[in-house]
Amino acid sequence: MQTRVLTGITTTGTPHLGNYVGAIRPAVAASKRADVDAFYFMADYHALIKSDNPARIERSRLEIAATWLASGLDPERVTFYRQSDIPEIPELTWFLTCVTAKGLLNRAHAYKAAVDKNTEAGEDADAGVTAGLYMYPVLMAADILAFNANKVPVGRDQIQHIEMARDIAQRFNHIYGGDFFVLPEVVIEEQVATLPGLDGRKMSKSYDNTIPLFEGGSRQLRETIMRIVTDSRLPGEPKDPESSALFTIFRGFASEAETAAFRKALEDGIGWGEAKQVLYERIEADVAPMRERYDELMAKPQVIEQILQDGAHKARATAAPLVARLRDAIGLRSGKSEKTVQVIGAESFGPVPEKVEKRGKLPRLASFRDSDGSFRFRLFSAEGEELLLSRAYADPKSAGIMQKRLKTLGSAAAVCQLQQRSLTLEIEGEHVGDTPEYSDESARDQGLLRLREALDQLAAQE
Ligand code: TRP
Repeated sequence: MQTRVLTGITTTGTPHLGNYVGAIRPAVAASKRADVDAFYFMADYHALIKSDNPARIERSRLEIAATWLASGLDPERVTFYRQSDIPEIPELTWFLTCVTAKGLLNRAHAYKAAVDKNTEAGEDADAGVTAGLYMYPVLMAADILAFNANKVPVGRDQIQHIEMARDIAQRFNHIYGGDFFVLPEVVIEEQVATLPGLDGRKMSKSYDNTIPLFEGGSRQLRETIMRIVTDSRLPGEPKDPESSALFTIFRGFASEAETAAFRKALEDGIGWGEAKQVLYERIEADVAPMRERYDELMAKPQVIEQILQDGAHKARATAAPLVARLRDAIGLRSGKSEKTVQVIGAESFGPVPEKVEKRGKLPRLASFRDSDGSFRFRLFSAEGEELLLSRAYADPKSAGIMQKRLKTLGSAAAVCQLQQRSLTLEIEGEHVGDTPEYSDESARDQGLLRLREALDQLAAQE
């Protein structure tokens, strides 16, 4: 089975060595694996949050597309597209916005940092904060959930966003009572280096300390490397590799043997100027052939455009059916749709098949695949409240057998073990699952009643 791996790169600025080592190179490598179904895209809607300079956005989109392609990405194999070519993404963003707690967004690091900065400066807390910045995590959740990505490789600064995407997905699944979204998992590649920039801080366009990947050619690369800040040790004096940005960058490109040799050279007192030349040559060896492809692509933007249009077509083939399903589930069914109508309360429109009408008022079981690959299900009350989360099953069949038993046995067979604020359900001595954590004992006891009622309703159905 293939794992869907998705990641986006915000299209502001020009790709630098940190982007390449930290994101592009590992993503291209992953996309070549047989068990990976890769979705890589340019987050140009996110770019609007950071820049209102149209020329820069335009240029950056092109550079980033050319960079990924020049770095070995095969658009036949990977679904490679621009976020803004996928109308399902902003549509899903709104659906998700409506189930996202405002409080969740208040806690986003980027937003909090802006607020803290304002507060420190004695300004209004939200001064200069756009709603776009505030909504950033929801748009990002839509990027991921529109394709039901399993794994999302990102930098550490993005971990919270993936956690939020999981939260939002769970909430949507819960409210609308279905397994619409799989829960995406963050992937932090431990071996992947976060490159330091010229000043030793993380290489980042926001610190203005980057070393460009292709732009400016080999000359610019060398000149920038020569500007890396070092300590004042003279040639002949031993250098400390671990505290040197030069060394860390070198390690990002070199094999273990090369790294060991460079370490030794530093400890033996190689001059900083010479060390920089070694670093430059090592990087140039990797970058030069890619730069050639990059320059070719940049000279033919129409080739890039066609690749991206094809990519958008492929991407929409996945996103559009999902969003259609969501529209249906949330009550935005098109009047032209021939699908049967879900009934909410007593209200209905269109011809309602009996089975569907009943379903609206009954508890239901929903299976899903957990992020660790195991199979689980949830039991929802007729009102859509989650009553039970099953334990993990190794295969869908055993999860299915347990669901069948739950449907027939009724509450008499159910043994509920009281935990402090939750319940554990057992049937014939077998652990079936657990209820959510309730706020206190009395809420838990109410939950117990609803769980029993739901089990009886299910059994009466069969
Ligand atoms: N916010 C990400 C970054 O700045 C870019 C991004 C946008 C992204 N949407 C995404 C990454 C979805 C992964 C998945 O790095």
